[in-house]
Amino acid sequence: MTKKLISTLRHNRVVPLVQSDSPDTALKISEALLEGGLDVLEVVLRTDAALDCLEAIAKEFPKAHVGAGTVLSADQSKAVIRRGATFIVSPGLDPASVDVAKEAAIPILPGISTATELQSAWNMGLRTVKLFPASVVGGPKMLKALSSVFRDVEFMPTGGVNPANLKEHLAIPAVLACGGSWLTPKDAIEAGDFGAITKLAKDAIAIANS
Ligand code: 3PG
Repeated sequence: MTKKLISTLRHNRVVPLVQSDSPDTALKISEALLEGGLDVLEVVLRTDAALDCLEAIAKEFPKAHVGAGTVLSADQSKAVIRRGATFIVSPGLDPASVDVAKEAAIPILPGISTATELQSAWNMGLRTVKLFPASVVGGPKMLKALSSVFRDVEFMPTGGVNPANLKEHLAIPAVLACGGSWLTPKDAIEAGDFGAITKLAKDAIAIANS
């Protein structure tokens, strides 16, 4: 993991997911998040337009840290790197994707949900992982338990993190940042209410700084 991304995550403390069917809308979502003070975004591969959205955002906002999420395979890892992703997030641990990311010198945060998976990631040389789905596998309790054993690992818990439990997660020293979709709610996007997204970003930063 590059020092630059680590310091960006440590500074932002939250990583919003960007999911859209159209690059135009994805750009508006990203603009709203940047306006709210967040400059790290994770574009998730969950729509047919996701790669186009990723490329559009990476081109339009070159100063932002635009990563790709929900990356499931080596082929997808190669595709997101080609389209401009500066980091990769996946729900689980896929050694082939880790190899692609390493080869390209792009940071990868694979999802882990057990000590065994974390140990495998650790043995691949990774020191930053996503805990997923955080709320299902124990949330803050699980993070404390894992970090007491894997003392040089930092975590990005994702899955069920929201404004009500964000502070509790961020208070754990081994937690670098939290990821989540709560910053980009579907209903606000459908209503074209991008101001609501800016407000959620500002609120999250306020919680992180409180
Ligand atoms: C992810 O891809 O990391 C999760 O879908 C995010 O989970 P959330 O929707 O509960 O924030």
